[in-house]
Amino acid sequence: DKGNHRHFMLKEIYEQPEVVARTAAHYLDMSAGKVRLPADLPFDWAKLPRISIAACGTAYLAGLTAKYWFERFARIQVDIDIASEFRYRETPMVPGGLMIVVSQSGETADTLASLRYAKENGQHVMAVVNVPTSTIARESHIVMPTLAGPEIGVASTKAFTCQLTVLASIAIAAGKARGFINDVDEDRLVRAMMEAPRFMNEALKLEPAIAQLAKSLSKVRDVLYLGRGTSYPIAMEGALKLKELSYIHAEGYAAGELKHGPIALIDEEMPVIVIAPFDHIYEKTVSNMQEVAARGGQIILVTDAKGAEHAEVKTIATIVVPDVPATIAPIVYSVPIQLIAYHTAVEMGTDVDQPRNLAKSVTVE
Ligand code: F6R
Repeated sequence: DKGNHRHFMLKEIYEQPEVVARTAAHYLDMSAGKVRLPADLPFDWAKLPRISIAACGTAYLAGLTAKYWFERFARIQVDIDIASEFRYRETPMVPGGLMIVVSQSGETADTLASLRYAKENGQHVMAVVNVPTSTIARESHIVMPTLAGPEIGVASTKAFTCQLTVLASIAIAAGKARGFINDVDEDRLVRAMMEAPRFMNEALKLEPAIAQLAKSLSKVRDVLYLGRGTSYPIAMEGALKLKELSYIHAEGYAAGELKHGPIALIDEEMPVIVIAPFDHIYEKTVSNMQEVAARGGQIILVTDAKGAEHAEVKTIATIVVPDVPATIAPIVYSVPIQLIAYHTAVEMGTDVDQPRNLAKSVTVE
């Protein structure tokens, strides 16, 4: 049932504040300001040699975001892989490590094969999964459910933001257990997480402005997305959503990679969507925007009020997202990038809920 919405995808985009709140409430104790993970984890965070993450598509991008969180909060090295690469690479694994697999369906063939490889190689396997009865959930040692509810639209939206919510919670707990986060920091981070749904609601109000912008985006051939830090996976997620829904060619790049190749693509025809909250690396992204502007590139900046004020370049559109704590920026910024892809596809008249050639669950490699 799509409710009042035109597509399942739009309904699922709008469900996000609610399902992220539900997922956060499952892992976070708001009154105590603490993360609540299962008490009987079969390993000790403090002694963990390494974390490996494997997943596909959007779930992979949730894993890539989590790498930044685990390294920052818990000071632990993280290997992140696309599951189809991981499963055949025969990577050596230090026994006693933690493998995290991320999957909405819990049936993705390559992710399942990665899980099995990790198990055979002495890893503790943790699944961040949306379907608790799935094969991946059943075969994992630890299941961390995302409480997104059934996702019908082929393009993942609410499962992604719930994956981010679970992974951020785990990273905070790991940081606490490893002694890199104290009680005060934990309380602050938990409070920030609990605010994500409210900010997502605010971000949903950007829909009319984004629908307007989509009219011009639907006329272009290619779009480049740029981001740094945790905005880098969000830039790639933006590109993935746009190409799968609207069939417009899109690439997501780390902003610092611009001059190592993609800058050659920039001309007056090329929209460049820059995902850049006003954070500790904002200035670096501003230089990249200046490089784009100097070559006539059409900048669409997704930022907050401070970022808009300090952008120092001419943009064709600036989408002003609420000012949010850095940790939850990827969760909140997912909303505008999903809406950009959705509305561009609607403008193009493509089948938003069932894009051509795609299956919701990829159970063959
Ligand atoms: C993109 C999308 C896919 C899935 C990928 C993994 O919008 O939905 O990239 O994220 O096929 O699927 P799961 O999460 O079911 O393992």
